[in-house]
Amino acid sequence: MNITTNMNLTTTYLGLKLAHPFMLGASPLTGQLENARRLEDGGCAAIVMHSLFEEQITEMMAGRVSQLEEVQATLGGGFVHFAQPEKFPLGPDEYLEQIRKIKAAVSIPVIGSLNGVGADGWLTHASLIEQAGADALELNVYYLSTGMQDSAVDIEKQIETLVRQLKQRIRIPLAVKLSPYYTAFANLAGRLDAARADGLVLFNRFYQPDVDVETLEVLPNLRLSTSAELLLRLRWLAILSHRVEASLAATGGVHTALDGIKALLSGAHAVQLVSAVLEQGAPHFRRMVEGLRYWMTRHEYDSIEAFRGRLNLEHCPNPAHFERMSYQRILHSWGA
Ligand SMILES: Cc1cc2nc3c(=O)[nH]c(=O)nc-3n(C[C@H](O)[C@H](O)[C@H](O)COP(=O)(O)O)c2cc1C
Repeated sequence: MNITTNMNLTTTYLGLKLAHPFMLGASPLTGQLENARRLEDGGCAAIVMHSLFEEQITEMMAGRVSQLEEVQATLGGGFVHFAQPEKFPLGPDEYLEQIRKIKAAVSIPVIGSLNGVGADGWLTHASLIEQAGADALELNVYYLSTGMQDSAVDIEKQIETLVRQLKQRIRIPLAVKLSPYYTAFANLAGRLDAARADGLVLFNRFYQPDVDVETLEVLPNLRLSTSAELLLRLRWLAILSHRVEASLAATGGVHTALDGIKALLSGAHAVQLVSAVLEQGAPHFRRMVEGLRYWMTRHEYDSIEAFRGRLNLEHCPNPAHFERMSYQRILHSWGA
């Protein structure tokens, strides 16, 4: 088969034009300038920086920061294909400097990342990230509520307020990276959309600590994803696609070109990869793009927009599969 080379692979994510939909998700790879260059050379369409954490800014929760450092340290063996930073640029000033350096070194869009939920103080860093030259900001509301008094309503309101505050502070586009663990996720997504979030990134993965039964210690535990994790993302991309103004990005479980195509068919504007790139190296982006081209040629699509969202809830021939109705059917079909 002749693979068409003049097809249009561009996509618009957060108002930014990307050469194709496959981009790097937030990861420690941006701790080293050399890695950013390798990623661009490998065909990556955009880069999300590692996160600057609220705790690092407020310095009020030093315990959690050191736990984070431990998790990052477990990654030592994960840098087979990349330069490993001697010292991770964790501090707020180093972080801003790193954005400036990466922006100067590559021509693809660079998205800053803030991780937190509290109000005030640390939010000034959103403006500083903008001033450092980031093309957009990703807010990761990575938050595990353990307070017995914290209600779902209060937590969701806090996130919505945070988005409204950030939208007043910055002019660059704002994406919100969310976990799937909300009772009424569509409602929350709709409220963030109404608060003018420019993008929703689905979904955060929570790192689950493990328990060592010999030393009786709780261990930080960071496992890379598998494609099996993608299915939850596909469902929610399909449910939200064409119902929110915000751009949609998939994160979690994208390892192959076919995984990426599934996310696009479900409605994603951009597809973020981390685990696959840590495992396969930067040239994996080029392989993803080749796979996309091959598939588009076979299906006679000449642009991403020609098929993006073709299997969302509105357009797919059997929407019940995304909803509860099919639960009963699938259970009954087990072993048939
Ligand atoms: C080693 C490592 C570090 C990460 N650091 C961050 C981070 O700083 N901020 C963030 O929002 N997500 C972070 N993530 C989550 C990824 O951006 C991504 O959402 C998650 O790994 C799922 O995508 P994947 O299946 O492609 O790995 C990290 C993931 C890994 C594996």
